[in-house]
Amino acid sequence: MVSSLNIILGIAFQLLLGVKSSMVNLNNNGYDGVVIAINPSVPEDEKLIQNIKEMVLEASTYLFHATKQRVYFRNVSILVPMTWKTKPEYLIPKQESYDQADVIVADPYLKYGDDPYTLQYGQCGQKGQYIHFTPNFLLTDNLPIYGPRGRVFVHEWAHLRWGVFDEYNVDRPFYISRRNTIEATRCSTHITGLNVVLKECKGGSCITRPCRRDSLTGLYEAKCTFIPEKSQTAKESIMFMQNFNSVVEFCTRKTHNTEAPNLQNKMCNHRSTWDIIMGSDDFQNVSPMKGMDPPAPPTFSLLRSKQRVVCLVLDKSGSMAAEDRLIRMKQAAELYLIQIIEKGSLVGMVTFENVAQIKNYLTEITDDNAYQKITANLPQEASGGTSICNGLKAGFQAITHDNQNTSGSEIILLTDGEDSEISLCFEEVKQSGAIIHTIALGPSAARELETLSNMTGGYRFYANKGTSGLIDAFSRISSRSGNISQQAIQLESKALNISGRKWINGTVPVDSTIGNDTFFVVTWTMQKPEILLQDPKGKKYKTPDFKEDKLNIRSTRLQIPGIAETGTWTYSLLNNDINSQMLTVTVTSRARSPTTLPVIADAHMSQNTAHFPSPLIVYARVSQGFLPVLGINVTAIIENEDGHQVTLELWDNGAGADTVKNDGIYSRYFTDYHGNGRYSLKVRAQARKNTARLNLRHHQNKAIYIPGYAENVGTIIANPPKPEVKDNVTKPGGGGGDIIRVVSGGTFTVSGVPADNHNPTPMFPPGKIKDLEAKFKGDHIQLSWTAPGNSLDKGKASCYVMRISKCFLDLQEDFDKAALVNTSSLTPKKAGSVEIFEFKPESFKIENGTKFHIAIKAINEANLTSEVSNIAQATKFIPSQKPSAPNLCTNISAFSLAVWGLAVIAIYILN
Ligand SMILES: *[C@@H]1O[C@H](CO)[C@@H](O)[C@H](O)[C@H]1NC(C)=O
Ligand SMILES: *[C@@H]1O[C@H](CO)[C@@H](O)[C@H](O)[C@H]1NC(C)=O
Ligand SMILES: *[C@@H]1O[C@H](CO)[C@@H](O)[C@H](O)[C@H]1NC(C)=O
Ligand SMILES: *[C@@H]1O[C@H](CO)[C@@H](O)[C@H](O)[C@H]1NC(C)=O
Ligand SMILES: *[C@@H]1O[C@H](CO)[C@@H](O)[C@H](O)[C@H]1NC(C)=O
Ligand SMILES: *[C@@H]1O[C@H](CO)[C@@H](O)[C@H](O)[C@H]1NC(C)=O
Ligand SMILES: *[C@@H]1O[C@H](CO)[C@@H](O)[C@H](O)[C@H]1NC(C)=O
Ligand SMILES: *[C@@H]1O[C@H](CO)[C@@H](O)[C@H](O)[C@H]1NC(C)=O
Repeated sequence: MVSSLNIILGIAFQLLLGVKSSMVNLNNNGYDGVVIAINPSVPEDEKLIQNIKEMVLEASTYLFHATKQRVYFRNVSILVPMTWKTKPEYLIPKQESYDQADVIVADPYLKYGDDPYTLQYGQCGQKGQYIHFTPNFLLTDNLPIYGPRGRVFVHEWAHLRWGVFDEYNVDRPFYISRRNTIEATRCSTHITGLNVVLKECKGGSCITRPCRRDSLTGLYEAKCTFIPEKSQTAKESIMFMQNFNSVVEFCTRKTHNTEAPNLQNKMCNHRSTWDIIMGSDDFQNVSPMKGMDPPAPPTFSLLRSKQRVVCLVLDKSGSMAAEDRLIRMKQAAELYLIQIIEKGSLVGMVTFENVAQIKNYLTEITDDNAYQKITANLPQEASGGTSICNGLKAGFQAITHDNQNTSGSEIILLTDGEDSEISLCFEEVKQSGAIIHTIALGPSAARELETLSNMTGGYRFYANKGTSGLIDAFSRISSRSGNISQQAIQLESKALNISGRKWINGTVPVDSTIGNDTFFVVTWTMQKPEILLQDPKGKKYKTPDFKEDKLNIRSTRLQIPGIAETGTWTYSLLNNDINSQMLTVTVTSRARSPTTLPVIADAHMSQNTAHFPSPLIVYARVSQGFLPVLGINVTAIIENEDGHQVTLELWDNGAGADTVKNDGIYSRYFTDYHGNGRYSLKVRAQARKNTARLNLRHHQNKAIYIPGYAENVGTIIANPPKPEVKDNVTKPGGGGGDIIRVVSGGTFTVSGVPADNHNPTPMFPPGKIKDLEAKFKGDHIQLSWTAPGNSLDKGKASCYVMRISKCFLDLQEDFDKAALVNTSSLTPKKAGSVEIFEFKPESFKIENGTKFHIAIKAINEANLTSEVSNIAQATKFIPSQKPSAPNLCTNISAFSLAVWGLAVIAIYILN
C-alpha cells in the first residue's frame, strides 16, 4: 500500500507543470522553438539582439559537450516588443508571446541587481516558468562575475528545462563535513578556494582576515566568504560555478557532494544534477550524436509583437437558453470589452450554432464608446446546434477580412455544447497560427475543447452555473505583451445568494499600486438591487450613478472617475425582490500610473489533467514587478462540474508542496476529488492590516555572483561587491494597506474517479518533512520543522519516528537501522504548524566536535509512513578560551595560511 502510493506520488511529479505552454521541442538532438522575448519597457537596442545571439551560440556548444553530445539549440526566436521600430527582417509571431516565453529580457524592479535567475518552483525534475536576464546583464562586461554568458544560459536552462537546483546556498554557505572540516557549500568539493572575511576596502585594496567560528553553531561567522582559486582543474559543476574554464560537466553520481546543504540535495533527495537530467523526458529517447563536433550553429528568427487582435467566437445554440447562459455570456463579454481589453486592440465578433455569422469585423477599441458597436450585436436568441469548426472558420475570416494575419491573433471560443466534429478543423487551426482561448460553459461542453487551447498555447477555462466563473474567465484574458501597467486586474469577484428584502454588505480595498480605470459591476438574476457604494473618504455613489446598457442583460456598472481613492470601499446591496436571488459583484482596476507596477496574482495547477488518485499541486504567485509579495492570505477555491467546492489555504512556508519559503509562491496539495470531468480553479489573495511585504532579497535558482578570485599566494582579485539591498523587505507600492486580488486559474480535467465511491478522497502518507533543523542547546539537541499532515499536508499525523546517528550515510542509506529517539512526549500538531522538540542524546558521549545526524518520519492513522525527512545536522562546539586560531579557515587550501593576515586585494574594475 505504502509503496504503491509512493509510486503514484513519484509518477505525478514526473509530469510537467501545467498552464505555461512552452513551445520548445526536442527533435533529433536539437531544441526547436525556444522563445526569447524582450519586455516593452526595454529601450530599442540592436546590441541586445546581437548579444543574445552570441550567448545562444556559445551556449549551444557548451550544452552539447555538457550533455555528452546529446542536445544543442537548433532554432531560437527572438521576440521584440511593439515599442521597437518595424524592420523588414522582423516576422509576425505565431503563438510566441512575452508571457509564454522561455526567456524574458526585462529590467529588474527596484534595481535589486542583475543576477540571472530562473523562476522555478516545482518539485525536483519539473520544468520552470522562465529565465530572466536583465538588459544590463546582456549588455555589460561581467565576465569575472558570472563567466561567459553562454555558460550562464546553460546553467539557467538546466533549471528551466530539467528542474535541477543550485548547488550553492547563500543562506547556508558552509557546513561541517563528515571529516569534521568546515566546507563551503558546493559541488563538487574539487573546486578549491579560501574562506575569508573581506574587510573594508579603501581605494583599490582591501584587507582580509580569517573567518571566526560562531560559538553557537561552530560554523563560520556570517561575513565569511568562499573565494575560489583563479585556476581550477575540476570539471564540475555547471550548477555551482559555471564560470571556470575547466567546468564543463554537471555533478554526477561520482562527483556529487551529497552533504552540502543546498536546494539540489533538499529537493532531489541528495541525488546529483546529472542523475536528474538523465531521468528527464528529454533524455529518454535521445542518444549521443556521433562525432565530437558540435552540430550547426543555431538559426535565429526575429519576430516583432503586433497590435493585439482578438475575435470573440460565441456559441448561441439552443442549449444556451438554459440556466441564463446567454445572459451570463453577454454580461461577461460586455465586461471584457469595456473593462478588460487594452485600448488600441482590434476586436471582432462571431456567433455560431450549426452555422456561423460574422457579427463584427475588426474594430479598434479607441475610446469608451467603441465597444458599443460590438455589444449591440451580442446574440439575442439561442437556437440551433453546435458547430465549433464553423465558428472558428468564421473567426479566421473576420480576422483576415481587414488584412490582419491569423498568425498571433487570439480567438476567445465560448461554448456549452457537444460537437463530435471538432477534430475536423484541428489541422486548419494549427496552420492558422492563432491562439485559441477556450471557455467551456456547463457540463456538456465538448470534451475535446481543451485540445484547441493545448495545441495553440491558449488559456482554458470552465464556468459553472450560479457562479461568476464566466466573468472570471474573461477577466483573465489580458494581453500577453508584458505591458503590465496596461493590464486589467480583478480585485473582487463574488457571487452572493441573497434572500428577499435583505442587505448584503462588503468591502473592497483599493491599494496604492492600482486605481486607474476602476469599475464596480453588479449583476442580478431577477430584479435590479439597490446599490450603495462609499469610497474611503465617505463619498457616496447610489443606484442611479451605476449605468446600464440598453442590452437588458441584468448588469449595471460604475466607472470611478479619475483615480480611485486608496483605502477601503464599502458596498451595500439590497435585494428589492421578495424572493432570494443571485447577485455578483466584480471590481476591476489598472495600475495607478504608468510607472507603478501593480501587485498581481496568478494561479495554476501543477497539471492540466489529473488521473485519480494522483495528487495535484495548486500554485499561486503574488508579485510586484519580479519581487515576491509575502504576508498574503491566499485561498484556492476548486469546483467540480456539480458545483461541489473545495477551499484550500495556500502556504509559502517551504514545507509540503511548497518548494521555497518566502518566495511569493503559495502552494498546497489537492487530492479532494469529487467525480470526473472539468474542475475550475479560482484564487483569492488578500492582505489585511499592513501585512503584505515585498521580499527584496529573494532569488533562488540564479547564477552565483563570484565575489572574487584567489590568484597567487597572498593576492585576491575581488569583483565589485554585489549591490547590497539594505532592507530585506518593504511595503508593496511603498504605501502598504489592505490588498485584494481575485484571479481565475483556469480549468483542469480529472479522470479515473470510481463512480460508486461517494467519498473517494484517497489517503496518502504524511508529506515528507523537508525543513528539519537541528542545533545544540547546552547538552540538548533542539529540533524544529514544519508539521506535515495526516494525508500529505492535510490534517494531523499520528506520530513521529525520529532517528539519530553520528554517521550521515547510515541515516541516508538505512533509516530504520539508526538509533531511535524517544518521541513519546511528542504529539504531532496540525499540518503547517511549527514543531519544536528538544532531547538529550543519552547513549552518546558528547565532547567538543561531536556531530549528530537526525532524520524523521511521520506516520498517519492508517499506519502510512512518510518518506524520510531531510537529514539535519548538529555539531557540539565548545569555543576555546583563546581567540580563535588562524588555521581554522585554512583546511581547503594549503597556501591560505600565507594569505591570513593582511592580504592586499586589488579591486577588479569593470570597464
Ligand atoms: C527549426 O529547425 C528545423 C530543422 O532545421 C526546421 O525543420 C524548422 O522548420 C525550424 N523551425 C523554425 C521555426 O525555424
Ligand atoms: C496537450 O498536448 C500534449 C502534447 O502537445 C499532450 O501530451 C497532452 O496530452 C495534451 N493535453 C490535453 C489535455 O489535450
Ligand atoms: C448594510 O448596509 C446598509 C446600508 O448602509 C445598512 O442599512 C444595513 O444595516 C447594513 N447591514 C448590515 C448587516 O450591516
Ligand atoms: C489611466 O489609464 C488611461 C487609459 O485607460 C490612461 O490614458 C491614463 O494616462 C492613465 N492615468 C494614469 C494616471 O496613469
Ligand atoms: C488569514 O487567514 C487566517 C485564517 O484563515 C486569519 O486568521 C488571519 O487573520 C488572516 N490574515 C490576514 C492578514 O488576513
Ligand atoms: C528579514 O530580516 C529579518 C532580520 O534579519 C529576519 O528576521 C526576516 O526573516 C527576514 N525576512 C525575510 C523575508 O527574509
Ligand atoms: C505499521 O506498519 C509497520 C510496517 O510499516 C508494521 O511493522 C506495524 O506492525 C504496523 N502497525 C500497525 C498498528 O498496523
Ligand atoms: C573545540 O574544537 C574547535 C575545533 O574543532 C576548536 O577551535 C576549539 O578551540 C575547541 N574548543 C576547546 C574548548 O578546546
